[in-house]
Amino acid sequence: MSELLPAEEIAELKRQIAAVHEPRELIVEVLQAVQQHHGWVPDAGVELAAKLLGLSPLQVDEVATFYDKIYRSPVGRKVIHVCDSICCWSRGAESVYRHLQQCLGIAPGETTSDGLFTLLPTCCLGACGEAPAMRIGDRLYGELTVERVDAILAEERQEAEV
Ligand code: FES
Repeated sequence: MSELLPAEEIAELKRQIAAVHEPRELIVEVLQAVQQHHGWVPDAGVELAAKLLGLSPLQVDEVATFYDKIYRSPVGRKVIHVCDSICCWSRGAESVYRHLQQCLGIAPGETTSDGLFTLLPTCCLGACGEAPAMRIGDRLYGELTVERVDAILAEERQEAEV
């Protein structure tokens, strides 16, 4: 299981887990650590997390499948989370979403053939005042238009080539 996480990171997680009253509090952190190193969380990652936390794989997987920033299948290098909640839909998210699918040549849940982008719908990103919004990695983009989406994708592609 060590290929999922370096030994020193496992040791650090064990220290953190030992310091909390309820190991469940750290399910997301442990899964994020696996994802950071592996790119996504395979079954073996859920099993590793469960073992570290003293929980069953099912208990860990319930959280993993609920939390949409944990990826249980392979994703591209950049994951585009497009908000599909009410404020964004009322401010034109549908056309933005359609445009993203056309530009990328993929449907929701798919990854571009170059492995760069995965497109996923998500619930409210907390940026309703800037709707429609999407998140790519740690970057939140608001007030999206078709033109702005083109510029953002070009910037993100350029950054990936560097
Ligand atoms: S509804 Fe889209 S950011 Fe809140």
